[in-house]
Amino acid sequence: MPTPQPAILGDLETHQWYVHMSRTEGADLGVIKAALAATRADAADQGVNLCLLFGPTLLADLTDDIPDDFQAYPGYTSPDGSKTAKGTQEELLLWVHSDSKDLCWEVQHTFRTAVAGHMAVARETITWVYKNSLDLTGFIDGTGNPEPGDQHDRGIVPDGETGAGGAFCIAQRWVHDLDYWAGLSLEDQENTFGRTKADSTKLEVQVPTSHLSHVELKDGAPAGTEGPAKRGEMVRRSTPYAFHDGTVGLYFMGFCKTQAPMRERMEAMYGMGGEALDAITDYSTPASGSYYFAPSVETLDAAL
Ligand code: HEM
Repeated sequence: MPTPQPAILGDLETHQWYVHMSRTEGADLGVIKAALAATRADAADQGVNLCLLFGPTLLADLTDDIPDDFQAYPGYTSPDGSKTAKGTQEELLLWVHSDSKDLCWEVQHTFRTAVAGHMAVARETITWVYKNSLDLTGFIDGTGNPEPGDQHDRGIVPDGETGAGGAFCIAQRWVHDLDYWAGLSLEDQENTFGRTKADSTKLEVQVPTSHLSHVELKDGAPAGTEGPAKRGEMVRRSTPYAFHDGTVGLYFMGFCKTQAPMRERMEAMYGMGGEALDAITDYSTPASGSYYFAPSVETLDAAL
C-alpha cells in the first residue's frame, strides 16, 4: 500500500515554512533530483516534517505516476470582475513544519543553496499555529475537517489508482483586511463563516454568502445544508502569517484525493456558477494561488 508523505496527515507542528520555486533557463534536472533526495534525508535525520509538492510540469519530468485530472491553477474571477484570486502556479512547493523554527529554516535553506542556478524562489512565507488553531479573524479554523481516522480516506488517492498514496493540494496566501473585519458586528462576522466565534458551532441558518454555503459540499443538496452527507471533503492545514510591512492573513493549505472538489469550491466562492460571492472575499484576497500534487513516499523513492 503506497504511503502518503507523513508531513501531510501527521500532527501540524507550530512553525511552517513555505517556499515556491520554478526551474530557471537551462536547469539541470539531475541537480534538482539530487538536492530533493538529500533534503528528504536531511529532514528525516533532523526529525523535521517535509512535504514535497510538484506542479504539473516538474512532476511530469519526474514520474508517470500522475492522476489524469491534475491541472495547473487557472485563477478565479467573479462574473462582475470585482474579485479575483490570481493564479501564481510554480513547479515546486517545499513545505516544512516543525516545533523548531531554526530547523525549518535550515532544511529549506540547504535545499535552496543546493539548487542555486537551477531553481529560483518565487515566493516564501513563514507561518505559525495561532492559539487553538485560530485564523487572525479570531475564528477557529479546522472544525469541519474530517475526523483523524477519516483523513486518509478523504485526502489521499486510494490504492489501485494512478498516483495512489499521493494527495492533491491547493496552496494560497490570503491577505486579510483586519480593519474592515474589526468594523463588522459579531453577527456579520459569524454569518461570514456560518459558525459562531466563541466555539465554532454551525449556525442553523446559513445566509447565501456564508463560507459554509460555498465549501461544505453536500450530496444532492446545496452546500451548507444541514442533514445530507458531505461529499468531496478536504483536509485543511492552514495557518496565519504576518509580514513586517503589516500584511497579515491566512496561508490556506488543503489536501484532497481528487482535485475537482477544490476547483468547485473556488468557483463557488467567486460566484462563477451564479452563487452569491463568499463573504470572505469582502475582507480577504489571495495574493497567490497554485495547485500541486504530493506524490507518495514510494513514488518519490523511485523518482529521485
Ligand atoms: C481567507 C480564506 C479562508 C478562511 C479565513 C477560511 C476560514 C474557514 C473557517 C473559519 C471555517 C469554519 C470552521 C472550519 O470548519 O474550519 C472554514 C471551513 C471550511 N473551509 Fe475555509 N477559509 C478560507 C478559505 C477556504 C478555501 C479557499 C477553501 C477551499 C478551496 C476552504 C474550504 C473550507 C472547507 C472545506 C471548510 C469545512 C466545511 C465543512 O464543514 O465541511 N476555505 N473555513
